[in-house]
Amino acid sequence: MEQKTGVRLEIKNISKTFYSKKGESHLVVDNVSFDVKENEFLVLLGPGHCGKTVMLNMISGLMERDSGDIALDGEIVTSPNPKMGMVFQKLGLMPWKTVMENVEIGPKMRGVSVKERREKAAYYINLVGLGGFENSYPHQLSGGMKQRVGIARAYTNDPEILIMDEPFGQLDAQTRYNMQNEIARITSQEKRTIIFVTNNIEEAVYLGDRIILLTDCPAKVKEIYTIDLARPRDVIDPLFLNLRKEISGKTDLAL
Ligand SMILES: Nc1ncnc2c1ncn2[C@@H]1O[C@H](COP(=O)(O)OP(=O)(O)OP(=O)(O)O)[C@@H](O)[C@H]1O
Ligand SMILES: [Mg+2]
Repeated sequence: MEQKTGVRLEIKNISKTFYSKKGESHLVVDNVSFDVKENEFLVLLGPGHCGKTVMLNMISGLMERDSGDIALDGEIVTSPNPKMGMVFQKLGLMPWKTVMENVEIGPKMRGVSVKERREKAAYYINLVGLGGFENSYPHQLSGGMKQRVGIARAYTNDPEILIMDEPFGQLDAQTRYNMQNEIARITSQEKRTIIFVTNNIEEAVYLGDRIILLTDCPAKVKEIYTIDLARPRDVIDPLFLNLRKEISGKTDLAL
């Protein structure tokens, strides 16, 4: 596919239907198209069970699409590509491994030397605020800390495009708020192309350069918002609140 200037990922008319054992069809992603630009923080905002994870699985090449095209740097995606890394909704930390061992797993599997991969892992463990916990095990960490381990692990693998599937969905309100600040800080320090999924309007407006608002199942693109507000964002700035209100008027999602 011909690559548009500044565009890393081009998603064009992708759809997915599942079939039950009885043969009933269930359309979950319906003709979705959007671009992801270089170094953009793109938010996919949609209600629960609308097909967000299915969409991410197709984008990252983990799941076949029924129709449509996905191109990464102009090349059609047919299988997982190391340029794209996922922070999964279910984190999948290995409970028998320490924070360091969990975080260094990507470069370790690629055969990177102990010294090099530990240096890199240590850098990201510090960046997410977990310095001092390198030798802790997941069960010794809070939910927010585990989430940070998942984020450090994804960064340490050095993907050019980082895909995060509702990374803060399981956290309590206060921890979620703290993690939103953290991810805003990390991404201002380390520019990267990010696709971030959430069902929370405030989180979307706080973090995104653009928001793709999705419909309830099947997921379709309802609206695309470009957020020109200065960073760090001020959640009580009238412009911020107006945008939040405008989006909430278009969807049944909670504010
Ligand atoms: N492998 C599968 N086989 C059959 N149905 C599936 C499969 N994966 C997902 N589904 C169905 O597709 C729909 C969308 O699922 P998906 O996990 O993408 O939702 P979601 O938007 O990520 O939801 P949540 O916000 O709860 O994570 C759901 O109804 C789900 O049951
Ligand atoms: Mg999901």
